Amino acid sequence: MEGKETSKMDFKAELKKYQNQIEQDLEKYIRKQDCPEKILNDSMEYSLMAGGKRLRPTLVLATYQLFKDNYEICMPYAVAIEMVHNFSLIHDDLPGIDNDDLRHGKLTNHKKFNEATAILAGDGLLNYAYLVISKDLLNTINPKELEKKVKVFHEFSLATDRMIAGEYVDTEYEGKEVLANYLEYVHQNKTGALLKLCVRMGAILADANAEDLNKLTNYAEKIGLAFQIKDDILSVEGNEIITGKPVGNDEAKGKCTYVSKYGMEKTKTILEEITKEAIENIESFGKKAEFLKELAKYIKDRNK
Ligand code: IPE
Ligand code: IPE
Ligand code: MG
Ligand code: MG
Repeated sequence: MEGKETSKMDFKAELKKYQNQIEQDLEKYIRKQDCPEKILNDSMEYSLMAGGKRLRPTLVLATYQLFKDNYEICMPYAVAIEMVHNFSLIHDDLPGIDNDDLRHGKLTNHKKFNEATAILAGDGLLNYAYLVISKDLLNTINPKELEKKVKVFHEFSLATDRMIAGEYVDTEYEGKEVLANYLEYVHQNKTGALLKLCVRMGAILADANAEDLNKLTNYAEKIGLAFQIKDDILSVEGNEIITGKPVGNDEAKGKCTYVSKYGMEKTKTILEEITKEAIENIESFGKKAEFLKELAKYIKDRNK
């Protein structure tokens, strides 16, 4: 019991360390100078620094640290994925998509600013991600390192493409009858693709071998699905003050979710099973993978 408690405590402290590092690095990229587009920059900052869990960059850094200590090489990619994630959230909340007013306990970007600004803030963050990565590529002299980073860059673009595709299918079929495998398709793409990318980026940047990359990819696919299943659950029984976003909106929109398809009880059983499978995939890494195992449990048990 005591051992378990300690490991939980360590996990929280470790997660906080990653989050603090990411907050610090994100802050460096915010443009603050006075210029005609200052409000656009402010709106990008508003969403980027609004207090997300920073799970995606944490996954990049923690996976890298399975293999190597100093994760400095990962930072541009960790920062860039958080920018893409926030672009996806700003656009997801727009009236044309989910039409939500609350995110991170604050007004959504289009409510705080206006729709035009929110659309451009999303565009701006997406492009900023590519600026950050391309700058890192330009600064990489060693040909082997550069080759590795170009591979990561390509995966980054592919995963972003999948996220956008998943968002489209999710939106297009809202309230309509859907095919049997629609739900898995949406979850794997709109949410799973970026989470899988994060784990793979960390592993590739750390020169993981094919076998380890494969195990981690399997782990990532499971936590990606688990993450969205939990999001579906929180949309029904979450506490709006804690999640910082509306509860009950999936149902109101007639969304097909794990809860609407399987019911709450079965959804929770599926979530438990998928989390177990995620952890099994990285069991062979032993103690080193403790944080990633705890992270899988955190994804399942989180209340925000
Ligand atoms: C919310 O993601 C959007 C989904 C993909 C379900 P997160 O819950 O990771 O968002 P923040 O950044 O921590 O708020
Ligand atoms: C968000 O999906 C997924 C992306 C933004 C890519 P949801 O619409 O289910 O997530 P929340 O509940 O608004 O965070
Ligand atoms: Mg949505
Ligand atoms: Mg939404």
